[in-house]
Amino acid sequence: MTYNSAKAGKSWGAASPEYDDTKWRLLNLPHDWSVESAYDSTENVAQGYRKRGFGWYRRNFKLNSSDKGKHIELQFDGVATNCTVWVNGTIMHRNFCGYTSFYIDITAMAKYGEDINNIAVRVDANQQEGWWYEGAGIYRHTWLVKQSPVHFITDGVFAHPVKSNNNWVIPVEATVENSSKVKAHFAIESALLDESGGVIVSGKSKGSIKPLVQRARKINLSVTNPQLWTLENPTLYKVRTILFQDGKATDTLLTSCGFRTIHFRADSGFFLNDKWVKIKGTCNHQDHAGVGNAVPDALWDFRLKKLKEMGVNANRCSHNPPSNEFLDACDRNGILVMDENRNFNISPEYQRQLEWMLRRDRNHPSIILWSVFNEEPMQGTENGYEMVRRMSEIVKTFDTSRPVTAAQSGGLFTPINVSQAVDVVGFNYQQGGYEEYHKQFPNKPMTSSEDVSGLMTRGEYKDDITHKQVLAAYDENKPRWGNTHRAAWKAIADKPYVAGCFIWTGFDYRGEPQPFEWPSASSSFGCMDVCGFPKTAFYIHQAQWLPITKPVLQLVPHWNWPKDSIGKNIRVMAMSNAETIKLKLNGKWIGEQKVDYYEMNTFQVPYQPGKLEAFGYKGGKEVSHFVVETTGEPVSLELIPDRTSLAGDGLDAIPVTVRALDAKGRSVETANLPIEFDITGLGNIIGMGNGNHNNHDPEKGNKYSLYNGLAQVIIQSKAASSGQIVLTAKSGNLKIATIALTVKESTQIPSVGIVSPSLVLDKWKISPFYATKPDPNMEVASYDMNTWAATKPGSLQQFAGGSFALYRTSFKPFAEQCEKGGVILFKEITGKVEVWLDKQLIGTKENKENGDIIIKFPAGQNTRNLTLLIEAENNRGGIAGVVKVNAL
Ligand code: GAL
Repeated sequence: MTYNSAKAGKSWGAASPEYDDTKWRLLNLPHDWSVESAYDSTENVAQGYRKRGFGWYRRNFKLNSSDKGKHIELQFDGVATNCTVWVNGTIMHRNFCGYTSFYIDITAMAKYGEDINNIAVRVDANQQEGWWYEGAGIYRHTWLVKQSPVHFITDGVFAHPVKSNNNWVIPVEATVENSSKVKAHFAIESALLDESGGVIVSGKSKGSIKPLVQRARKINLSVTNPQLWTLENPTLYKVRTILFQDGKATDTLLTSCGFRTIHFRADSGFFLNDKWVKIKGTCNHQDHAGVGNAVPDALWDFRLKKLKEMGVNANRCSHNPPSNEFLDACDRNGILVMDENRNFNISPEYQRQLEWMLRRDRNHPSIILWSVFNEEPMQGTENGYEMVRRMSEIVKTFDTSRPVTAAQSGGLFTPINVSQAVDVVGFNYQQGGYEEYHKQFPNKPMTSSEDVSGLMTRGEYKDDITHKQVLAAYDENKPRWGNTHRAAWKAIADKPYVAGCFIWTGFDYRGEPQPFEWPSASSSFGCMDVCGFPKTAFYIHQAQWLPITKPVLQLVPHWNWPKDSIGKNIRVMAMSNAETIKLKLNGKWIGEQKVDYYEMNTFQVPYQPGKLEAFGYKGGKEVSHFVVETTGEPVSLELIPDRTSLAGDGLDAIPVTVRALDAKGRSVETANLPIEFDITGLGNIIGMGNGNHNNHDPEKGNKYSLYNGLAQVIIQSKAASSGQIVLTAKSGNLKIATIALTVKESTQIPSVGIVSPSLVLDKWKISPFYATKPDPNMEVASYDMNTWAATKPGSLQQFAGGSFALYRTSFKPFAEQCEKGGVILFKEITGKVEVWLDKQLIGTKENKENGDIIIKFPAGQNTRNLTLLIEAENNRGGIAGVVKVNAL
């Protein structure tokens, strides 16, 4: 067993194709098992008190016989955290980062036709790379790619437009690989396409390539007057690159790109297309309510839409490369991106991780900065400097068009430090150092790479540190290293040489529930909670960041205070971009203030139930109006879908907001009610949340509760044609809410059919050939690897030196066959045959012609030893077809 287990194709246990997984759960990817587990106070607080552990995934599939000769590749976009992948019983890859994709060329291992291919993935999610929730499992997409033998490598086309001397050029670089057995001649044609697919400009290159090597070719496409990629109008173009062999297209890649220039200036910050843009960014991790890290693609658009509503124009992918789909969404939505490498290490494996990020991401127009690390203890040392110098050099070999940065939380003023090895200096906090650094190094561009870390709980307006573990949402709570939203922005807004900010964070995330621990399981840093429901910080930034043409006026808190608050002062905070605001309570004017753009406005209002109104004025004219009212008790529920239709592709997903309304239809912001959902039709509930970091309700299922008036339920379409999803929500005696969503027929993403596992016996040993009938039950010493040879059914043998041979294998039947017995099917067996199982004769084939036989075997829990005695005619015999163990 040990000898065999060290051989290609011979892995055992769950890595073996023969392993019985018939009782395993069937699930769809992407998948995060951590979010399915219960909160557990003994688990790591940083990982949100969720279990991680080990897990296995297995998948069987067939490849058409016509695929033989193609290049076959498996692609995993993200697996948390370390994993090992076996294909057909052979280890094909080990991955050491939960944020980098990996592509596995399985061409040499693949089987075709009736043969079944098996993928087994062992995930070790006990490994940690972060101090935040990292999820567990195959949480991004996986792909099976079939290409012609002469093909483009994955991420193999670099087509990022550059501008020099007023001319645009796309220096297309395409890398070709040849997996065929012969030298190939090829041509490449690259073309820039307009929106309707018409060719704007094209170019060609030719070459030849030896088997099993890669070659890159360059084609310059000159472009005049393209539509620019801007924040307001992020125009994207497609570069179509076609590979030809003998005049026939063998591979085509469409690469999305955008025309824009970027510059960081030491005196005046960031310029997009030569236009000054103050970076108004947020940092974000990648988990969302209900789904953990297995975030459906459509939710990226939802999250970016919420950030844009807040006035955000940039995202820092903290502290790791995001999914492909996230970057596509940033390209589409006009969001600037700081893309960040996960591991600060320059050893070969980690260098590979950095190179992968650059190669995959360098076509995205949204990306403006490559960040090589976040807050590394070596940042102020010569070692740190030397490492970043090397990493920076690696970046430049892949892309010279974007600057390198590192998010430094210190060490900026030491004699040798990392800031000397980057193009743009990144400041994490240390806001007191902006001025001094700029004074000492006036030629070094700089940006905040992280700031704020303000703490607030959505809908809470009184700190309760010891019992409820909540923090008032008045933008006053912050950790020692952080700042309030208002002060942090002020420190950046008035310094032209600081390119902008990246607030910690846009959304709350699991883990880091500072300053609390259990039962608090997720953070309170977000401008929005984990669902994307706004907190006070969201409105502060709206007031500061939205264009003045979009009036902002918002009051906190709610106006549902208990009776004993009557007459007592309630602190009212107004967020507005008007010039002055006035407040009215129950029809009476109670205050007026000039708007403070940075600090916002605070009023002390003696509480009276009723209607509190705010009016915003500019140049004496009313420009905005906001009302908050004391509501009655909840009497009904309301469901507000983010969209009313979904694509019927089994992937599209939307969040639905759940609220409670009073008799007058007003949202009750203080409602905390249990809700039960029911879904019928072409959809499933894939997760629920409410932003309460102390709530431990399961995020899967159909029961959740409102927290301070809100909950979110995430619906995903089933892969089906067109139809409807009906979602209802009920709570006690409240009026039930029902919505119907349309599921529209849509193109199904092609997927490889699932093959139900069948025990295929394809690993045999064959004895020497004998002239006389041998004893079928003869013993062969366990250490004898050489007298008998390894063989595989599928072709007949030349019986040289005798007409008798023994074939032997062993197998453990699947659970059901152990219980009930089963049958062994031998396809296309030639020769007279005796079938011996555990030294008992269980069947025979009397004639010598080619034919199939099916033989029953009895129940039993043990591993079975199977021997075939074959007597060949004319020296040709054996098993030309497959051998399978099936149910009775
Ligand atoms: C920063 C760190 C973040 C997060 C934050 C919390 O120092 O970069 O990942 O931990 O602190 O305030």
